[in-house]
Amino acid sequence: MITKQKTLVIIKPDGIQKNIIGEIISRIEKKGLKILNMKMMKLSRELAEKLYEEHRNKPFFKSLVNFITYAPIIVIIVEGEDVISIFRSMMGSTDPKNAAPGTIRGDYGTDIERNIIHGSDSIESAKREVDLFFPEEQERVI
Ligand code: RTP
Ligand code: MG
Repeated sequence: MITKQKTLVIIKPDGIQKNIIGEIISRIEKKGLKILNMKMMKLSRELAEKLYEEHRNKPFFKSLVNFITYAPIIVIIVEGEDVISIFRSMMGSTDPKNAAPGTIRGDYGTDIERNIIHGSDSIESAKREVDLFFPEEQERVI
C-alpha cells in the first residue's frame, strides 16, 4: 500500500536572501512531490522557540532563534510517498561543509547556521510542525 506523508519545509532567511526560492521549489516539483500549502512570514520569537524546542538547552539555541527570526521565511507543506526521508536526502547534512554536492545545503549552504533549509525529521515532528504553522490544515480532506 502506498502511504502518502506530509513534511514541513522551511526556506530560511538566507535562502530568500540568495534568490533561490524558485530553485528550491523547482527541485521539489521535479522530484514529483506535491506542494499542498505555502506562505511567506516573519517568524515571532515565540513560534521560533516552539519550532526548535528540542534544542532549547543547546548552546546554539539563542543564535538559532535570532537567525530564523531576523528576516522572512517561506513555509511549505510538501506531500508524497516517503517524503520525510526523501526531502531530508535532498537537503543534505546539517553542516553544508559535510553536505554532498547536488543537495540543497551542499550546493548553497554557507555554514551550520546559514544552511538554507529545514525539513521535518520524523512523522511526529512533521505533524507537530504542520499544526504549528498551518492549524487550518487539520480540516483538510483532500
Ligand atoms: P533543521 O532542524 O533546521 O532542519 O536542521 P537539522 O534537522 O539538519 O539539524 P538540527 O540538529 O535539528 O539543528 C537545527 C538547526 O540548528 C542549527 N545548529 N547549529 N552550532 C551548532 O553546532 C549547530 N547545530 C545545529 C542548524 O542551523 C540546524 O539547521
Ligand atoms: Mg532538525
